[in-house]
Amino acid sequence: MDESWLRKEIFPKFSRVLQRGEIYLANHSLGRPPDRAADDVRAAVDAWYRDLDGAWNAWLEAREKFRSLTAKLVGSPRADCIIPKTSAGQGLRAVLNSFVTKPKVVTSDGEFDSIDFILRVYREQGRIELKITPWQELSAQGADLVVLSSVMFRTGEIVKHLPRLIHDAHAAGALVLLDVYHHAGVLPLDLAALEADFAVGGSYKYTRGGPGACWLYVRPGLVEAMRTPDTGWFAKKDVFAYARPEPPEFGPGGDAWLESTPPVLAPFQALAGLELTLELGVDRIRRYNLEQKALLASLLPVDAGYMEHGAFVTLKHPNAVALCLKLEEQGVRVDARGEYLRLCPDMLNPSAELERAAATLAALLQQENMKR
Ligand SMILES: Cc1ncc(COP(=O)(O)O)c(C=O)c1O
Repeated sequence: MDESWLRKEIFPKFSRVLQRGEIYLANHSLGRPPDRAADDVRAAVDAWYRDLDGAWNAWLEAREKFRSLTAKLVGSPRADCIIPKTSAGQGLRAVLNSFVTKPKVVTSDGEFDSIDFILRVYREQGRIELKITPWQELSAQGADLVVLSSVMFRTGEIVKHLPRLIHDAHAAGALVLLDVYHHAGVLPLDLAALEADFAVGGSYKYTRGGPGACWLYVRPGLVEAMRTPDTGWFAKKDVFAYARPEPPEFGPGGDAWLESTPPVLAPFQALAGLELTLELGVDRIRRYNLEQKALLASLLPVDAGYMEHGAFVTLKHPNAVALCLKLEEQGVRVDARGEYLRLCPDMLNPSAELERAAATLAALLQQENMKR
C-alpha cells in the first residue's frame, strides 16, 4: 500500500469527499465516507418506498452484516455478541443497568466526555459508586466494573498493560468494559484474546460509517448470563410471534440484548467503510498510518512517543484551541482537546498535504513563540 496505489485504487472510491478543497486531518474525529455509503443508504430508502414493510428483510440483513463485519474487526468470536447501538454511551448504560445491586465502578480520568458524563450522572443519582483515577494508577480492587479506554482520546496513548489489567480485574472479581473507539480500525484488536467482558465502539471515526452506527460487545457466556433492562420487543424470543409468556422469554445469545425497533439506516451507512477496512486489513492501515505520522512528526515538535500512540499525532500547546482555528482559516482541518492539538492523517492524505499542513503549523508556532 503506497501513495500511487492508493491514488489509483482507493481515491476514486472517495470522489465526493475528495472534492473538498481543504487538507483534512480530523480523520480521528469524523472519518471520511466512501461514495458507496450514500448509494447503500439510498438503496435502503428506495426499498422503503418500493416495498414498505417488505423492506424489513433487507434492513435486518444489513444489521446482521454490520454485526458480523464488526465482530471480525474486533475479534468477537460470535456476531451476535455485537449489539448494535446508536452510541457508545447507550452501550455503557445497557451494561450499568444490568447490575441488580448498586455496582462499584472504577474508571480513568481520561475517558471521553460522553462516558465520563454518564458515569458521573449515574453517581449523582445514586445508581453507582464511582472512583476516578489516572489510567496509569487504575486498580480494580473492590470494584464490580472497570470502565477504561484502550487508546486515550485526548493524547492517543495506548494502554499497554491491558492484558494484565484485565487479568487482575478478573482476579479481584470485577468485570471490564473497554472503550475501543480509538482502537478498532486503527490497531489490531482481539477482544476474545484480551478476555474483555464488554466493549463499546462505533463507526464514525476510523471505519468511516458516520454517526449512529455504534455497538456494544458482550462476551460469550456473559451475554447469556446477564440481562439488561434496556430492552424491547426485538430482544424477545420469536420477535414477530407476538407471544407474551410469563416470565418474558428472550431471544438466543446476544439477541437478548437487542432493544426496541432499531434505526434501520445506520448499518447501511457503515457497511462500505467496514468492508473497506477489513479488505485493506488493519495491519496494513496501521503500517501506512505510522509512515504518515513519522513524516508529520519529522516536520513538527510533537510529543515524544507518538509512534506508540493510536492513529493521530498530538502536539501539546497552551494555545492549542487558537492554533486549531488559525489552521482552519488556512485550509487545514484538525481539532483540539484542551492543550492537545490532534492531527490525524489517513490514507486519503497525500504526503504533499502533510508537508503543507506541517509548514503551515510550523509557521504559526513560530509566530506564537515570538509573541512570548
Ligand atoms: C473514546 C471515545 N468514546 C466514545 C465516543 C463517543 O461516545 P458517544 O457515542 O456516547 O457519543 C468518542 C467520540 O469521540 C470517543 O472518542
